[in-house]
Amino acid sequence: MIKTIEWVDGAVRMIDQTRLPTEKVFVDCRTIEEVSLAIKTMIIRGAPAIGVAAAMGVSLGADAILSEDFAEFYAQLEKKCAELAKSRPTAVNLAWGIDRMKRVAKAGKDLAVPDLKKRLREESQRICDEDIAANQAMGSFGQTLIGDGNNVLTHCNAGALATAGFGTALGVIRASVNAGKKINVLANETRPFLQGARLTVWELMEDNIPVKLITDSMAGYFMQKKQVDVVVVGADRIAANGDVANKIGTYMVAILAKNHNIPFYVAAPISTLDLSLANGEEIPIEERSADEVTTINGKRMAPVGAVVAHPAFDVTPNGLVTAIITDKGIARPPFTESLKKLAGQSADS
Ligand code: MRU
Repeated sequence: MIKTIEWVDGAVRMIDQTRLPTEKVFVDCRTIEEVSLAIKTMIIRGAPAIGVAAAMGVSLGADAILSEDFAEFYAQLEKKCAELAKSRPTAVNLAWGIDRMKRVAKAGKDLAVPDLKKRLREESQRICDEDIAANQAMGSFGQTLIGDGNNVLTHCNAGALATAGFGTALGVIRASVNAGKKINVLANETRPFLQGARLTVWELMEDNIPVKLITDSMAGYFMQKKQVDVVVVGADRIAANGDVANKIGTYMVAILAKNHNIPFYVAAPISTLDLSLANGEEIPIEERSADEVTTINGKRMAPVGAVVAHPAFDVTPNGLVTAIITDKGIARPPFTESLKKLAGQSADS
């Protein structure tokens, strides 16, 4: 499997997810500003991958600071971090990755600045490695919920490409396959940016996991035909009460699943929990460019001048969520208690 993100010769190398699946192009970021731009333009996307990119970006930002005085070094780093944090608003992993790096910087105040820079680089690699381990843990918990022969519907891309590797929702699917279960995936295309069609279908095909691409509007049809046994999606931010922000269209799938008595699972690491928010109403929803709606692959689909709305995420209320699969275990309703308990088991929640 191609690496989503890694350190190569002092640069942060990412596979350009705007070009997949037709071209496999890699982008090397050498500054924190380049990492921020890569996040904004969705060269890298998906909540956990954004968290890892942010941590690596902070390390690049630290390297570029010339001062050897800690107070001055930290003041400059904080400024850069504040800019990086503005790259995209919804996935809490961005702030999570930045905050963790800031904590490490603060804790190293007695180190010589060059040693501190080295420590920050190591921490960013640790965050990357931990993300893969978290996804594997989520996979082993989550696969217990998936039956042999299940047809699994997913929305957007919560796969290896959305993380440092293995994936969250697709990690649960991969772990189920690795456990010897026969799984068929239905992938919503995920308009407008087509993460399902372009990325989920691509990475599952690479792994020889059976996948059928459907348009978002076909989900209800296949549920009615009893061709969906379970839904598994990822998340960008989960509030304390279990309300889940994820790619636009997720809420619609959750309602459909409820109506058809189909379990609706969310797979996300503890780093995607935002216990500071009581409920999903407070989650900031990104509005992206109208061009993503009016065009597909640069080809215009709507009349010039068309008025367009483009919320990139929606919030699924906790009542529609059967369970949340985390790297620390499976949370079930009432989520306010179960999530708090699981987060308590995580060192950096
Ligand atoms: O806009 P994107 O592509 O960054 O949105 C991604 C999603 O909504 C994913 O489902 C979510 O980040 C979980 S990824 C493991």
